[in-house]
Amino acid sequence: MNTDDSRPGARVTVTGIGYLGLTHAVCLAEMGHEVLAVDTDAGKVAQALGGIAPFFEPGLEELLRKQLDAGRLTFTTSHAEAAGFGDFHFLCVGTPQAPDGSADLSQLYAAADALAPHLAGPCLIAGKSTVPVGTARALATRIAERAPAGARAEVIWNPEFLREGTAVRDSLSPDRIVLGAASQQAADRLKQVYAKLIRHGVPMLVMDLETAELVKMSANAFLATRLSFINALAEVCEATGADVTALVGALAYDERIGRRFLTPGLGYGGGCLPKDVRAFGAVAAELGLGSLATLLDEVDTINLRCRSRAVDLAREVAGGSLAGWRVGILGVAFKPGSDDVRNSASLDVCGRLAAEGAVVTVHDPVALPSAALVRPDLRYAESALTAVTDADLVLHLTDWEEYRLIDPRVLGAVVSQRHVIDARSALDEQRWRSAGWSFHALGRP
Ligand SMILES: NC(=O)c1ccc[n+]([C@@H]2O[C@H](COP(=O)([O-])OP(=O)(O)OC[C@H]3O[C@@H](n4cnc5c(N)ncnc54)[C@H](O)[C@@H]3O)[C@@H](O)[C@H]2O)c1
Repeated sequence: MNTDDSRPGARVTVTGIGYLGLTHAVCLAEMGHEVLAVDTDAGKVAQALGGIAPFFEPGLEELLRKQLDAGRLTFTTSHAEAAGFGDFHFLCVGTPQAPDGSADLSQLYAAADALAPHLAGPCLIAGKSTVPVGTARALATRIAERAPAGARAEVIWNPEFLREGTAVRDSLSPDRIVLGAASQQAADRLKQVYAKLIRHGVPMLVMDLETAELVKMSANAFLATRLSFINALAEVCEATGADVTALVGALAYDERIGRRFLTPGLGYGGGCLPKDVRAFGAVAAELGLGSLATLLDEVDTINLRCRSRAVDLAREVAGGSLAGWRVGILGVAFKPGSDDVRNSASLDVCGRLAAEGAVVTVHDPVALPSAALVRPDLRYAESALTAVTDADLVLHLTDWEEYRLIDPRVLGAVVSQRHVIDARSALDEQRWRSAGWSFHALGRP
């Protein structure tokens, strides 16, 4: 999207500079706004001020530097400074999973508590974090109790749909902007912030607060359900000798079904889908909606079973025991395009293989540092070739393009045995087989 425009921008703050918040802050600056971003993590703030993104996201660091140089973007650890900076405050802090599966809203409440006492005049507080339905109203009450008289802060909900790996593009050219607001005036004011996107044809859908909160949870639950449905069909294929790849290929021709989010394999992971499915399930249970709670619980169970099935398949290929088997791993990021290993199915599988006595050596184009922080016990290799050298078995666990393009003859020359498991349904089976590999995949004969 061409973001050049001579109209003056708004003064906007963003609280939380994780995967969502930093991208949002940078993209708001790219849209021409003056942005101050605040985070309690002084290390992240220092990195961002130095033009370094604390995580890998294609194109983000370049835009961060551009906007720092342009003077439209800066960072602080002070909520008081943020409160005085402008009239629009976006909340982008984490909403991780609580031990009981529900969403832990403590970061959100802490951010609101830190901001509210310093608000000086009327302002809009826009929540972007993914939250259970009802959170926005609870937050509005909390802020009203803590803000000085006359601050008149209105809470609106503006859920975010960006995907790691394409976050910048998703933020600058979203499919839609969803806005939950209790008043039309609040909705109209937020339109100013997104005016450039709206002028470029991005639809803005205005609704009540509860529906906006539900849109995000429902979208993630729907995507997760599609993936678990196809992975449950992969289990049917395993039990009957059918081929899930051929099955999906045929299903996808039905335009009501389509192909997206129907790739069988290791299932979903990351910092969003797993926790959001569980949080939505917790909300459903709380509301007495047992059927939805059970459905989402099964979606989660099927998803986690993909990881066990991948390890079972590896054990089977190894002849019943993985003890002492050297396993080369292609990919540990939870998805390609990201260095995020939060709830990574790939990293989970690596840990399970190691627990069964396999000697696991891992490659990933960008996620080795984040994986090594979580699993320092695994071995890491700087190239795919090194990771698979002398391996008895190769597991393809994250669908990076470089693995699709890899020449199986080159890998075949350095491994000890040519066994490969494609747990992402992404490799060209014929190519691997003709290079002398025994080729295995979930849901396939
Ligand atoms: N990651 C994604 O792709 C994505 C996409 C859409 C929506 N979301 C949602 O966005 C939210 C944030 O996700 P994330 O992946 O960016 O999380 P994250 O953990 O990467 O980032 C959260 C940031 O908030 C900061 N923080 C915590 N408490 C704070 C406080 N009181 N004041 C200021 N900063 C504080 C943390 O230091 C951290 O930098 C979640 O609700 C998530 O579900 C994420």
